[in-house]
Amino acid sequence: MSDALRTRYSVRGYLPDAVPEELIREVFDVARLAASGTNTQPWHVAVVSGDACNRLRDELCANFDDGVAQDRGFPANAKMEGPYLDRRRACGFGYYETMGVERHDKDGRLAIARKNFEFFGAPHVAFFSMPRSFQFPQALDVGILLQSVMLVMVEKGLGCIAQGSLANYPDSVRAMVDMPEDNEILCGLSFGYEDADAHINTVRMTREPLETVASFTR
Ligand SMILES: Cc1cc2nc3c(=O)[nH]c(=O)nc-3n(C[C@H](O)[C@H](O)[C@H](O)COP(=O)(O)O)c2cc1C
Repeated sequence: MSDALRTRYSVRGYLPDAVPEELIREVFDVARLAASGTNTQPWHVAVVSGDACNRLRDELCANFDDGVAQDRGFPANAKMEGPYLDRRRACGFGYYETMGVERHDKDGRLAIARKNFEFFGAPHVAFFSMPRSFQFPQALDVGILLQSVMLVMVEKGLGCIAQGSLANYPDSVRAMVDMPEDNEILCGLSFGYEDADAHINTVRMTREPLETVASFTR
């Protein structure tokens, strides 16, 4: 598991090849063993593949192109400040730089944002949701499930990327995927086999040193 943590990165370029359904089921079957507060398992994952994935991709891209308002079921990010804002900017700029997009190139940035709704070319996408009445404690549980899925995928030779942006057109997703009616989407996850030739996959994000993010008192 430590190896998977050390080697995982967000994959933003995929081969079109489908992952066998058996392998997909194996990944989620292991990941569902993740811990959750009082074992509530407040999550649901809707996995979308094949024609359904292509139809959903077209629909979300049409929303994006038509300027449909992006509106999450759960409250969006709070205002970012200080080191958090700095890290967020560094993330965006690192990404644009690798793709050869200048900071002031609005169209270039839009094209990159659109890739989220293209699922970065992945043949599969999963939507992580929880009942809309749930709050932070349960969102933490869903995050633990998400990380479990990502690490198992790395172990199985798959690439993936968590995408909060895929929570932004919930009505379109809800109309096309099989998810509980009372749930809201927290996050999407595109996945498949990494395209080793995709330049975007050379981006690596740094992490803060241990002393910055942890304290040890005795
Ligand atoms: C909950 C969550 C939501 C994310 N949403 C997006 C997204 O919408 N689009 C995107 O390109 N990357 C998204 N990412 C990927 C992060 O940008 C990425 O994990 C971070 O920059 C660290 O890079 P790494 O995953 O390559 O280590 C998301 C990651 C997480 C954990």
